[in-house]
Amino acid sequence: KQISIIGAPMDLGQSRRGVDMGPSAIRYAGLVSRLEAIGYEVEDCGDIEISRPEKENHDHSSLKNLKAVTETNERLYQAVAEVINKKRFPLVLGGDHSIAIGTLAGAAKPYQNLGVIWYDAHGDLNTAETSPSGNIHGMPLAVSLGLGHPSLTSIGGYQPKVKPENIVIIGARSLDKGERDLIRKENIRVYTMHEIDRLGMTAVMEEAIHYLKDRTDGVHLSLDLDGLDPSDAPGVGTPVLGGISYRESHLAMEMLSEADILTSAEFVEVNPILDEKNKTAEAAVALAGSLFGEKLL
Ligand code: ARG
Ligand code: MN
Ligand code: MN
Ligand code: MN
Repeated sequence: KQISIIGAPMDLGQSRRGVDMGPSAIRYAGLVSRLEAIGYEVEDCGDIEISRPEKENHDHSSLKNLKAVTETNERLYQAVAEVINKKRFPLVLGGDHSIAIGTLAGAAKPYQNLGVIWYDAHGDLNTAETSPSGNIHGMPLAVSLGLGHPSLTSIGGYQPKVKPENIVIIGARSLDKGERDLIRKENIRVYTMHEIDRLGMTAVMEEAIHYLKDRTDGVHLSLDLDGLDPSDAPGVGTPVLGGISYRESHLAMEMLSEADILTSAEFVEVNPILDEKNKTAEAAVALAGSLFGEKLL
């Protein structure tokens, strides 16, 4: 595998400043050398340009910074599509989770049935109608299903990017009413913290991998660092107690590496301003190591 890193220093999908420094923090935590040490040829494409909002305050209260988020995701879509055309593996660094809209638009294009692993405390399945916040980082998975504002769902010129039966959510512990309704209606597979506690991460990942292997022709990992417990990943904008541990997360990444099913990945929501000595970016890099096959012995 040849890996191409794309930074998406986006902070307009939510309201806490600082998450735009996530890509830098992850780079400073040693991502490139970590992957090179495993034996990959790694290219850092730098950061995509982020559109600035016309006004300080958002014009559209139910979809904050819609125009800037849309334009930025168009660019990210192009960047990811280019990497895939070069037959390289796209690894996207966020930035808030609204960037998954562009990543998935690029990552899903060559596949008929792209699988998605959404490793997150949240479902990110809101639309303007169901969102309690108007923050687009709470909407990217819905957008990828073709639900939401047309300027977002139409990015890449096709939709939907993913089918509900090809999604697995892992680590959920905070879902809004509309998200729960959508999960039930579409029968989306969700491993909440309850299942992780009850079955253990090994069984959860075995099941998730088996499920996706049978029905997909590629798999994207969208890893929101707030899927981890805030004690292990404090530098996130929307922390939720009772999350996946650092060790369980390493296990999950190692199992994904062994299964060798991933065709793209992203690490999002690292916010250095809220972090403790870059702990969250360092967790992201360590997890990327396991995800790409790092072995102690
Ligand atoms: N569900 C909440 C909302 O819609 C929180 C979303 C948090 N999303 C995230 N990517 N951290 O605003
Ligand atoms: Mn989240
Ligand atoms: Mn998220
Ligand atoms: Mn956030």
